[in-house]
Amino acid sequence: MSKKLYIETLGCAMNVRDSEHMIAELNEKENYILTDDSKEADLIIINTCSVREKPVHKLFSELGAFNKIKKDGAKIGVCGCSASHLGHDIIKRAPYVNFVLGARNVSKIGEVVNKDKAVEIDIDYDESSFAFKDFRSSAHKAYINISIGCDKKCTFCIVPQTRGEEISIPAELVLQECQKAVDSGAKEVFLLGQNVNNYGRRFTHTSEKINFTKLLQRISQIPKLKRIRFTSPHPFHMDDEFLEEFASNPKICKSMHMPLQSGSNDILKKMKRGYTKEWFLNRVFKLKQMIPDVSISTDIIVAFPGESDEDFEHTLDVMRQVEFDQIFSFKYSARPLTEAAEFTDVVDEEVASARLTTLQDLHNQILDKNVNKLKERIYDVYFEELRADGYIAGRSDNNHLVKVKGGEELLGRFAPVKITSPSRLSCVGELVF
Ligand code: SAH
Ligand code: F3S
Repeated sequence: MSKKLYIETLGCAMNVRDSEHMIAELNEKENYILTDDSKEADLIIINTCSVREKPVHKLFSELGAFNKIKKDGAKIGVCGCSASHLGHDIIKRAPYVNFVLGARNVSKIGEVVNKDKAVEIDIDYDESSFAFKDFRSSAHKAYINISIGCDKKCTFCIVPQTRGEEISIPAELVLQECQKAVDSGAKEVFLLGQNVNNYGRRFTHTSEKINFTKLLQRISQIPKLKRIRFTSPHPFHMDDEFLEEFASNPKICKSMHMPLQSGSNDILKKMKRGYTKEWFLNRVFKLKQMIPDVSISTDIIVAFPGESDEDFEHTLDVMRQVEFDQIFSFKYSARPLTEAAEFTDVVDEEVASARLTTLQDLHNQILDKNVNKLKERIYDVYFEELRADGYIAGRSDNNHLVKVKGGEELLGRFAPVKITSPSRLSCVGELVF
């Protein structure tokens, strides 16, 4: 008899992949199958994120709610980054939790699931299987880890403490995974790491040490693979060789995530980001000059300790100069185990909120100004998702979300689409024959 697993995934794409891996392990070893109803589950897992404080607070109220509605005898597990940094405290605060499994330890899910009160959070743990177990949430796109952990020391960031030191996964294994995904029907691979373009830094074992540019070249040689995406690259490692490969390789999708964090050189230094405003803009303009239609997204933190009005004005200046297609913006949140948590020049909460609003308003103005340029453009769209309203949605190479009237016949296929009605978040179009 199979058992039922309900899994909630918070946070980044790496967590999405870790959840897929755990689903596959639990299915293979313990005969669990997925359910989307937590009330009928025999096992409830929350795969958590810890980069900001709010979701961590929410974790305990959510656990309490699951404990109330779960069926008799059902287990609850907490996995991911909050599991790594809170460890035993989770079971102290929520004694009904059955096990705690850190982000670096997801391959041990088959071991801990039957041990009561197991806590596995060792960040030195060598992930020998690199979360490669076969389960994919999408038949069309495959998330594939190329590195785990992070060696940078950005002063605001808890990730190096939860995911451990950076290890590059040997290229032969990554290539094997990409080939497997293509053989099972995916036409797109999404390469994952906290710092993908630092690939090559430290291998566990490998016959050959190659960098990210070479890895992209190798992957793009896989016949039948049509698209390569990746996240997150770091602006510091965006050298000419990498940008030129990005621009000239037709299989690499022309959408780049460039996490700016701040436009002020003083703040970037305090964050230990390793680049300046000038370097960041130089990289953006090189990209835009090589690929006029490139889309660029970013992450921005407002109100980092010590951020003055003038510092913030530099961030707005970069926003105006770059005109990002998408931003993920956050108020700074002090995190335990980070250097910045000790900084005392904290910015007032009201100022922080006002800056976030100013930033997001500016971004909306930029999008409103640019969105109409998409009208009448023709994009090759890879259709991935059937919608209930008679539409089918997919993405252009440069990551615009596009939907057209249509059904299953388009699923997993590419087709040219003319945009008829663009909007900030998604565009409606029609097929061009
Ligand atoms: N390696 C990833 C970063 C992961 S964290 C990358 O370079 O994109 C994802 C984003 O969360 C960061 O880019 C940052 O903008 C945000 N973030 C991280 N720590 C934060 C903190 N303490 N407060 C607010 N935002 C934070
Ligand atoms: Fe965090 Fe900086 Fe690494 S944002 S994940 S320490 S590159």
